[in-house]
Amino acid sequence: MKTNLAKILSDRNSRASVAARVEDYERRYGGESRGGGDERKADYRNFENTYYDLVTDFFEYGWGQSFHFAPRAVAESFAASLARHEHYIAHRLDLGPGMTAVDLGCGVGGPLIEIARFSGARIVGVNNNAMQLERAARRAEVAGLGHLVDWLKCDFMRVDAPDACFDAAYSIEATCCAPDRAGVYGEVFRLLKPGGCFAAYEYCLTDRFDSDDPEHRRLKADMEHGGALPDIARPHAVDDAVRTVGFELLEARDLAAEAPPGLRWYQPLVGAGLSFARLRSSIGGRRVTHGSLWLLERLGIVPRGTTQVSRLLNLCAVALAEAGRLGIFTPMYFIYARKPD
Ligand SMILES: C[S@@+](CC[C@H](N)C(=O)[O-])C[C@H]1O[C@@H](n2cnc3c(N)ncnc32)[C@H](O)[C@@H]1O
Repeated sequence: MKTNLAKILSDRNSRASVAARVEDYERRYGGESRGGGDERKADYRNFENTYYDLVTDFFEYGWGQSFHFAPRAVAESFAASLARHEHYIAHRLDLGPGMTAVDLGCGVGGPLIEIARFSGARIVGVNNNAMQLERAARRAEVAGLGHLVDWLKCDFMRVDAPDACFDAAYSIEATCCAPDRAGVYGEVFRLLKPGGCFAAYEYCLTDRFDSDDPEHRRLKADMEHGGALPDIARPHAVDDAVRTVGFELLEARDLAAEAPPGLRWYQPLVGAGLSFARLRSSIGGRRVTHGSLWLLERLGIVPRGTTQVSRLLNLCAVALAEAGRLGIFTPMYFIYARKPD
C-alpha cells in the first residue's frame, strides 16, 4: 500500500489544524448533541468536511482508496471483494461506453476509477471535500482514465449540473451523509434523464434494531458520531424517500443478509480471517497504530490531535463491528430505482 504512516504525518495541510478541527468536531457534534443529530443535520456541510479532512489519511492507511464495506466470499481477497461490490453497481446500471453516470459522494475515487475502467462509461464524481477530489483526480490521471472522468466540487444536495444530464447515477455509502434522504434522492431524480436508473448502497438499521434497547441506541450514537452520520435511517424511511421524489423503486434489499458463506462485511474491523495486508484495520492493528500515534504525538512528530482522531475512528469501528455482529445495522441496503419516462 502506497499510503503509510509517514504520509499521514507529512501532510502539511493536516498538520496545521488537526487539534483545532478535531476539538471543534467533538465540541459541536459530540457531547449532548450525540445521538440527537439536529446540529449535525443543520450544519451538515461543515460536519462532513471537517470529518473527512481529519480522517481521509487514516482511511487510506487502514483501508485503501475505496471507503466502503463489502461481503467477502470464501477464498476471495479483500481487494477483489471491494471491486466485486463496485462492479455489481456498474452491472445493475448496465453502464457501458457512451454513457455518462454520476457518482455521488465519490471519496478519493477508488470505486469511481474501478467502475470507469470496468464499464468504459464516463463517470462524473461529486464530492464536497476538495482534498479528496484532488486525490481522486490525480489517481484517475495516473490510471490513464482522465478521458473518462470528470469532477464536481459541490454538495450533492445541490449539484452544479443541469436537469436530466446523466444516463445513470450511483452512490456507495455516501447518501447516508445527507441531512435528509428525500433531499438527496430528489436531486438525483432531477439529474437523471427520463428512464435513467439510480443504484446505491445505503447505511440502514435493520429490523433487529430495538430503539428501546439502550445498548442498541448507544451503538447507533457511536456509529453516527464516529462516522459523521447525521441519523442512520430505517429501510422503510429510505424506501419512502425514494418513492416520494418520484422514482419507481424496482428493488430494495439488504445484501448483507444474503451474502454467500465467507467473511462478513464487518470482519476486517475485528480481525478474523485477516491477511497481513488487512492487519491495519483489525482491533490489534488499530491498537498498534493508536499506540504509535500517541507516542509520536507526545514526541511532537505528528500533529497535536492525531490521537484524538484515531480514538474517534476506533469508537466508530468498534460500534460498527458490534452492530454488524448483532445484525442491527447494514452498510449495504441496496436500492435500485428508475426515473419514469
Ligand atoms: C464513506 S465516504 C464514501 C466514499 C466513496 N463513495 C467510496 O465508497 O469510496 C462518503 C463520501 O461522501 C462525501 N460527502 C458527504 N457529504 C456530502 C455532500 N453533502 N455532498 C457531496 N459529498 C458528500 C464525503 O466527502 C465522502 O467522500
